[in-house]
Amino acid sequence: MSELERIGVSLDKELLAQFDKLIAGQGYKIRSEAIRDLVRKQLSEEQLENPNAKAVAAVFLVYDHHATKLSDSLVDLQHSHTLSQLVQVISSLHVHLDEHDCLEIIVLRGQAGEIRKIGDNILSMKGVKLGRINIVAV
Ligand code: NI
Repeated sequence: MSELERIGVSLDKELLAQFDKLIAGQGYKIRSEAIRDLVRKQLSEEQLENPNAKAVAAVFLVYDHHATKLSDSLVDLQHSHTLSQLVQVISSLHVHLDEHDCLEIIVLRGQAGEIRKIGDNILSMKGVKLGRINIVAV
């Protein structure tokens, strides 16, 4: 672990009260941890503006498995070594929600810009009902 440095931060009381309420609701016990996480989040978001940044993402989708060819397309995509030289599928999770719908979470690692492109391609496939891409720089 790198060396710690203490800093002092001045905030007006009202802003601090709102912050404390927010982080208490999120389960933080100490402000320092909440502030560290906020800084990391902001830095990660800043890094993601670079399409070449290294990132990991979970592509989360709900789809009807009766949708023509969608299940096959998703499996093909995950087996494909030609998916992209810049992105790998590193894991996936499939849950049968009910007699129609499936939840799939596909974990991708690689360049942020390519991950977004592939994620958008997945989510725009015919039969996908809902979805989102959660991406973080690493
Ligand atoms: Ni299923």
